[in-house]
Amino acid sequence: MDPKEQLKRDAAREALSRVTPGMRLGLGTGSTMWHFVDLLGDALAEGTLSGISGVPTSERTRDQAAERGIPLLELHEGAPLDLAVDGADEVDPHLDLVKGLGGALLREKMVVQAARAFVVVADDSKEVSRLGTRAPLPIEVVPFGWESHIPALEALGARGVLRVSEAGDAVRTDNGNLLLDAHFEGGIEDPFEVENRLRARAGVVETGLFLDLADEVILASDSGLVIRRR
Ligand code: A5P
Repeated sequence: MDPKEQLKRDAAREALSRVTPGMRLGLGTGSTMWHFVDLLGDALAEGTLSGISGVPTSERTRDQAAERGIPLLELHEGAPLDLAVDGADEVDPHLDLVKGLGGALLREKMVVQAARAFVVVADDSKEVSRLGTRAPLPIEVVPFGWESHIPALEALGARGVLRVSEAGDAVRTDNGNLLLDAHFEGGIEDPFEVENRLRARAGVVETGLFLDLADEVILASDSGLVIRRR
């Protein structure tokens, strides 16, 4: 296996050790979560775990989990969830996160907010000293008037770019919305301020800032696992 994929799998395997029989899980989205869902499928098939059900945060995760025979629930059926597991695009020293490069930020945040605990799985390339330095901040917006958010982002010190596919079409989320990627020169100085200012705007559905939400971060590196807890 590619060494990077191996790190993701190591983090996912550690997160699986937090899962006990009968748990209702939030199943995140992304390449690290792919390994978690794969390992969970193995554990259910082998009988080392039983009675698990999950709420998927994207159609991709729903498809993979269904293929692996993981029983699925709608969010209202599963809540409160025992544990949400998800990847991240950035993790800062306070365990605050940027998520959403995979485009699933809205459902991911809804699922995390419905969970009693949230564990993040990542490789150590996601560690940053300040959010917004490694990745842009994804923002889900309704299609109507999306251009009007660009000057508002500028006022926050960011350059907003509509996310487009390789074919040049605007990317649509699973919810039919658009994504703006906000590039902050030098990173995000005050993530709480940015979150509040963006969320106050009609038409902004959700941001990829996951603040004060993660309870534990499992980071895999070449020298082993680093576990951070709030
Ligand atoms: C999906 O919308 C994202 O929030 C992912 O959780 C995040 O991008 C991490 O993905 P990878 O594990 O693929 O890096």
